[in-house]
This record gives sequence, structure tokens and C-alpha cells, in this order.
Amino acid sequence: MSVFYPSTPPSGKPNLADLRLNYEKGALDEATLPADPFVLFKLWLDDAMAAGVAEPNAMTLATVSVDGQPSSRTVLLKGFDARGFSFFTNYQSRKGRELAVNPKAALTILWKERERQICLRGTVSLLSREESDAYFQSRPYGSQIGAWASEQSECIPDRAWLESRERELMAKHPEGKVPLPPNWGGYMLSPDEMEFWQGRPSRLHDRIHFERRGDGWQHCRLSP
Ligand SMILES: Cc1cc2nc3c(=O)[nH]c(=O)nc-3n(C[C@H](O)[C@H](O)[C@H](O)COP(=O)(O)O)c2cc1C
Repeated sequence: MSVFYPSTPPSGKPNLADLRLNYEKGALDEATLPADPFVLFKLWLDDAMAAGVAEPNAMTLATVSVDGQPSSRTVLLKGFDARGFSFFTNYQSRKGRELAVNPKAALTILWKERERQICLRGTVSLLSREESDAYFQSRPYGSQIGAWASEQSECIPDRAWLESRERELMAKHPEGKVPLPPNWGGYMLSPDEMEFWQGRPSRLHDRIHFERRGDGWQHCRLSP
């Protein structure tokens, strides 16, 4: 069967189809569940950071084009508060263009070292230019110039073209106060749904799904 790759694994290596872990690092129990999923998010994020998970703020952002084609990519969570979860990017990138016409989006965070996943669904809005500037000014100089240099998601001639653009922009904006690029800033996903997944033995995982109801949240257990 060609669906399994490599069909003939190197000696001593398992076939992909035989790769699986039994999850047994934790449990998600309604008896200790906070009523507010943001509280649980914070507990899990703190736990992932304490456990030394690499890039614990990396998350997959899914957007959908006007003709219904989904796209996903990794972005970094840069903050969260009662409104939602924020990330920064180029407004003219594929994700930026898609969010401009369809603000419905999803975020998935995987902390595989903790056998945990959180899935968020909701609506994305732009952060204010003031909030975007505050974050932009906190970035290292190289990243600030990178944001100016990158026409994110556009085809470019080659690497040399990008590096020459970087040099030009460094000359134009010396280290100090680099202005916020007009096409770059923050977004916030305000979730209507938040699902917490904890891997359990024998694929009988714990899944608790929160749904926004008025000013509060309701939750239920989902079948794994
Ligand atoms: C670990 C990791 C973190 C990333 N963080 C960001 C980010 O915060 N913002 C961003 O615009 N792109 C980030 N990227 C790059 C995106 O995944 C993606 O390539 C880029 O945003 C263009 O996506 P698009 O063409 O779908 O809009 C990251 C990639 C990785 C692997």
C-alpha cells in the first residue's frame, strides 16, 4: 500500500503507520474545571512554560478564503486578555487578505510534551494602531526591519533581492525609532468556542468544549 511512507522503512525504523504514543500524562476532570475557559487557558499555558515546552506560544491559525478554501499556518501568540488572543502579521499576507473578507478563524495550540491541545474558534478583529505600535516598538531591530522588508506572501525574485531590500531599509530606518509599517499590525481572535484536549490511554481522551452563552460560558464533555 502506498499510503504508508516509507513503504520500506530503513532497517530498525518503524513504518509511519506503526508510530503511536499512549497518552498518560494527565487528565481533565469536570470536578476541578474552572467556569471560565480563559482561566484554564492560563493554567495550561503556565504549565507548558514551566515544563519547558519549546515555543509554547506557537499556534496554528486557520483562515478561509472568500471561495471557501481554508489555509493554515503557524503564528505566535503575543498576548491574551478577556477580549481574546492576539498575534501580529502583515495585513497584505494571505491570512491578512482572507481575514479582511472573512473574519471567522480558528487557532490550534499543541503542547505535545504535555499531551495537550487547545482549539479556538471565533472572530478576528484588528488591534488598534496604538496596540500594534506598542508591540512593534518592543521587537528587536532586525525583526522591525524584517517587517518593513517583507511583502509577506508575495512572489519575489530571489534571496538576494530580499537581502538588498533589508539593507536599503536599514539605511532608511537606522536603529532607534523604526516606525510601524502601515501594512503590519496585530489581530485578536475573540473565541466563541474553546476546546481543551488532554490525551488519555487507549485513545479515550478527555475533551471539554466551552461555548460562549451571553456573558458566560457553558461546557460539555465531547466524545474523543
Ligand atoms: C514557529 C513559527 C512562528 C511564526 N510566527 C509568525 C507570526 O507570529 N506572524 C507571522 O506573520 N508569521 C509567522 N510565521 C510564519 C507563518 O507561518 C507564515 O509563513 C506567514 O505568516 C505567511 O503566511 P500566509 O502566506 O498564509 O499569510 C511563523 C512560522 C513559524 C514556523
